[in-house]
Amino acid sequence: MSFEEKLVKALEALGAKDEASVRALFVEVRDALESEKRTLLSTPAANDADRMERAKALRDRWLSRRNGLLAQVDEHWLKPASRELKPVVGLEFNQLRQLAKGLEVEELIKSVAVDSRSAVVGRDPNDPEGLGAGKGKGPTQAAEAIGFDPTLPGNRRPLGSIHPITRVQREIEEIFLTLGFWIESGPEIESVYYNFDALNIPESHPARDDWDTFYIDSQTVLRTHTSPVQIHAMEKYGAPLHIIIPGKCYRRDNPDATHYPMFHQIEGMAIDQDVTFADLKGTLDFFAKRFFGDQTRTSFHPSFFPFTEPSGEVAVSCPICDGQGCRTCKQSGWIEVMGCGMVHPEVLRRGGIDPDRYSGWAFGLGVERYAMMKYGIHDIQLFYQGDLRFLEQF
Ligand code: DAH
Repeated sequence: MSFEEKLVKALEALGAKDEASVRALFVEVRDALESEKRTLLSTPAANDADRMERAKALRDRWLSRRNGLLAQVDEHWLKPASRELKPVVGLEFNQLRQLAKGLEVEELIKSVAVDSRSAVVGRDPNDPEGLGAGKGKGPTQAAEAIGFDPTLPGNRRPLGSIHPITRVQREIEEIFLTLGFWIESGPEIESVYYNFDALNIPESHPARDDWDTFYIDSQTVLRTHTSPVQIHAMEKYGAPLHIIIPGKCYRRDNPDATHYPMFHQIEGMAIDQDVTFADLKGTLDFFAKRFFGDQTRTSFHPSFFPFTEPSGEVAVSCPICDGQGCRTCKQSGWIEVMGCGMVHPEVLRRGGIDPDRYSGWAFGLGVERYAMMKYGIHDIQLFYQGDLRFLEQF
């Protein structure tokens, strides 16, 4: 007699007259339930709808209120049970009900999740010790059975891209790295000494004014340029020295198309014996041709910076119109791209280097300006607004 046939008979008719025989009957029912659940989880299905349908059918077979198998146990075993057997039948029936909760569709999905996890570490949830090796079916089949397919592709998160400022910074770094320079960095919160005094910038210099510089306290500023790292590097490494120093700088500027209170500079410095202005010109001309294109010409004009002597400004022939004159170069054919000069002997001395033995050159450039020229961007603020319509173009 199958267990289903037994369910529609009274206990008495089944010869279950004591606790032990009642328990044995319930064991049979619970075994049937578990085995049907296992079969569902390990049988592949034709498609999603099929899977779902089969999971629901199993649930209804056992749990349907009107004629599910549990309702029959209630109807034929529990309700008519004799006074003596009622407690044990009630107890067993409760256990069976608990077990049957595992047939709710949501519970089945959870079992599949556990099933897949165990599979990752190579275990079968029904056989955690691996005693019946090969008995269990794979997690994919189990998952398929109830409409969850772990082999489907997941949700893709969109990948970001390199910010144009970082992109240009790396490009410039790359050029100097090929020339044997290395990359150095320093603090963005800087002492007044490194930002100004050690660079020979006198107390009276307008750049030291409260209106141009962010002061944290009277001796501490947000660095206004990358030049203080020249001093840190000289103190740290001495001479000879060939470095470039990319980094963020800060000035009290109101944002407009060409100003922003935070921006990026790249500083360069070369110190060795017998370094001359000719080395400076040759190196920067090479750099300009690499960055802006082979046709680029450079032009050096006298200028003034307290930390270089002599000082200069470098202009390049406009890469947009090739020096013919256009909107970008304001019809002049030339664009200023950096400040430079021979390192002032006082600055070498502050860095602990003997200016009688060594000489050097330095330059400083603004990365934003290079990025704006390279990509034809006319408003510096676009770099920092985080607008994806802008950023996704890079
Ligand atoms: N520090 C200067 C500035 O922020 C740029 C500069 C000019 C750096 C000349 C240098 C240099 O190293 O030699 O305007």
